[in-house]
Amino acid sequence: RLCLVGQPEWSKYFPDCGGTSQSPVDVITTQTKYDTSLIPVTPLGYSQHGNKPFTLYNNGHTVVIEMPEWMGLGGLPWFFTAVQMHLHWGSGGPSHGGSEHTINGLSADAELHVVHYNSELYPNVSIAMTQKDGLAVLGILIVTGEETNPAFNNILNYLQRIRHADQKVSIPAFDVQSLLPKDLGRYYRYNGSLTTPPCYQSVIWTLFHERVQISMAQVSLRN
Ligand SMILES: *[C@@H]1O[C@H](CO)[C@@H](O)[C@H](O)[C@H]1NC(C)=O
Ligand SMILES: *[C@@H]1O[C@H](CO)[C@@H](O)[C@H](O)[C@H]1NC(C)=O
Repeated sequence: RLCLVGQPEWSKYFPDCGGTSQSPVDVITTQTKYDTSLIPVTPLGYSQHGNKPFTLYNNGHTVVIEMPEWMGLGGLPWFFTAVQMHLHWGSGGPSHGGSEHTINGLSADAELHVVHYNSELYPNVSIAMTQKDGLAVLGILIVTGEETNPAFNNILNYLQRIRHADQKVSIPAFDVQSLLPKDLGRYYRYNGSLTTPPCYQSVIWTLFHERVQISMAQVSLRN
């Protein structure tokens, strides 16, 4: 969202951004089709965080957390290995939702993306991200409400320490699955792209129907 080039211009600089499967999308629920061949996605090893700290860093656009390579994703035609997760926030303001995906035109306040690559077919994420079946990303819509969501404090409590681009901080490892909605069986699946340049058309998207909630006070931690 904080790209230097405005979205309509992306395709001039990054040819893939003019592709036919550009993400994010607005999910129009009346135009979705129930697909009996799809099964719930299964996070694997998300709860086995071990003792090694995670690294949280500010890449100039957003906050990114690298994920250990034993975490992965099942329930897709191939096994996908976890790479990283990152948050998308809006520019702020109550009427300016920060999510990338929208459902029936409605945005959420933020969106978490958990990125995996197809480690059955490709040797690493750099290669996989340029391939049609290379990446699988989980999209989690986040809305603000009354209640605190303690799982998100594992990230939000450390944001002050990475105010500036390229800053990094080690944070205690935590159960990544606790960030996800409870219902992993209801989701929208489509073939799309990275949402920011280079926009490779390489992502099998899973956008969960259930939203997770965090409190207003938690949202304000990003400021
Ligand atoms: C990814 O794999 C390719 C092919 O094996 C290799 O040339 C490249 O250096 C690898 N990249 C990284 C970042 O490991
Ligand atoms: C997505 O692409 C895969 C091949 O990569 C194909 O098998 C699948 O049918 C496509 N799904 C949709 C919804 O277009």
